[in-house]
Amino acid sequence: MKNYVAAIEAALEGYIPTGNYKEQKLLDAVRYSLLLPGKRVRPSLTLSFAELCGGTVEEAMPFACAVEMVHAYSLIHDDMPCMDDDDYRRGKPANHKVYGEDIALLAGDALQSMAYMTMLGNLSVAAVGGDRAARAARVLSEKSGVLGMVGGQTIDLSIEHRHVDIETVQLMEEKKTANLIEAACMMGCIVAGASEQQIGAAERYAHAIGLAFQIVDDILDVTSTAEELGKPIGSDADNEKNTFMSLLGIDRCRELVGELTEEAIKALDAFDGDTSDLADFAVRLANRKK
Ligand code: IPE
Ligand code: IPE
Ligand code: MG
Ligand code: MG
Ligand code: MG
Repeated sequence: MKNYVAAIEAALEGYIPTGNYKEQKLLDAVRYSLLLPGKRVRPSLTLSFAELCGGTVEEAMPFACAVEMVHAYSLIHDDMPCMDDDDYRRGKPANHKVYGEDIALLAGDALQSMAYMTMLGNLSVAAVGGDRAARAARVLSEKSGVLGMVGGQTIDLSIEHRHVDIETVQLMEEKKTANLIEAACMMGCIVAGASEQQIGAAERYAHAIGLAFQIVDDILDVTSTAEELGKPIGSDADNEKNTFMSLLGIDRCRELVGELTEEAIKALDAFDGDTSDLADFAVRLANRKK
């Protein structure tokens, strides 16, 4: 799946308007966060599921890029002083440190609408058909919206500085992180014309790797270094966040990540094609160091 990254980054760059605009600072801020080197986990998943279901990288690319745009917007806003108040992201100063809070807020807004413009552009709709494009866009809006990622971010903030139970933390982490990963995987299936059963299996795979992904993020916030992660460590403790690490400790977290990874790999049984890349990817994400 590493092979997808260069194509994703070229496509992302192509969606940013170039030319002489009065909004140059906004465009610079959008470009900065979208093109700094991230892992591109979500768009890679979209492309991989599309290919698994008989689609092509070309037709799935606008949908893959849309998920990464929503992700980039969520990171810009997540780092702002009114949220996690973090100064570094992807090894560089956070968007709001470079462009100011006003532009950072607007760059996040702009990336969100750019995601829908990208998926629902004429070429993209012509390639996959209006029904599939509309369903993919609906999935992205549901999973990233008020009862999805944004809902999860709201719960995350609302439970700072007090103790809550593990069920609440799990719900928060499923929403803020697993939901967007679910959208990424489901959208790949949808644009390739997969069956309902396969779309459901992609959702289960993504739910499991998505929750595991956030648990690993919580672990790394305690055990890694800022140099390796490219973002501050200790941010969760500084903000008195509830995380899997703060509630369960490292041993139980590692166990859970292992269980979720196995669960994800089982969900791949619903596909006829070769799922070994997606199985390997789940394992690599579980063992990731950044
Ligand atoms: C960070 O996501 C935010 C979480 C949901 C944990 P990533 O770890 O995918 O960040 P990038 O895209 O590689 O920077
Ligand atoms: C991020 O969770 C979830 C988002 C939707 C952005 P975190 O706040 O733990 O992510 P990092 O650690 O800042 O990347
Ligand atoms: Mg956060
Ligand atoms: Mg954060
Ligand atoms: Mg974190």
